[in-house]
Amino acid sequence: MKQIIHRIAAITATMCITTFFLSSIAVELFGSYESIALVKSLIVMPGVFILIPAMAITGATGAALSKNRRGPLVANKKKRMPFVAANGILILLPCAIFLDRWAAAGSFDSMFYMVQGLELLAGATNLTLMGLNIRDGLKMTGKLRAKPQANLTRSN
Ligand code: HEM
Repeated sequence: MKQIIHRIAAITATMCITTFFLSSIAVELFGSYESIALVKSLIVMPGVFILIPAMAITGATGAALSKNRRGPLVANKKKRMPFVAANGILILLPCAIFLDRWAAAGSFDSMFYMVQGLELLAGATNLTLMGLNIRDGLKMTGKLRAKPQANLTRSN
């Protein structure tokens, strides 16, 4: 059960960040100022309100699942999670709130695009770390094959 909840929460969180990332790039390249403002507001509500619980559930269920697990895969997942959380709370969340406010006020100046750039960079970083956590999770559950270990025993 915990594994299923972990999987659903992890995929939901990853899909949220992917959607925020791709929709921001698409609307800023091809959309009007009104559509940029709409996307920026949807990212905050309901976007962030789906992402934050999904991320918290991913971390909590991951911690519970890893209680009796040892090894580099779980250790690496544990190391990545604080970066994902800090990046989300300290960079992505404030960026999303400011970009929404500025876009609603029609203020598309250089500050808007600098913060947008920062948000995309932080989003790409989190997507990379979450992708690595998905890969290692799938290796742990045997759905993805782990690299074969070097054979250290001699067979002569
Ligand atoms: C954003 C962060 C994370 C993502 C995207 C993620 C993703 C995944 C995925 C896709 C699986 C495979 C599930 C399945 O095959 O059913 C998995 C398994 C697992 N994850 Fe995570 N995970 C994350 C964070 C964590 C953290 C922080 C821990 C704690 C160290 C953790 C511990 C585990 C464990 C132990 C498994 C294996 C479960 C089992 O054998 O039953 N995960 N994870």
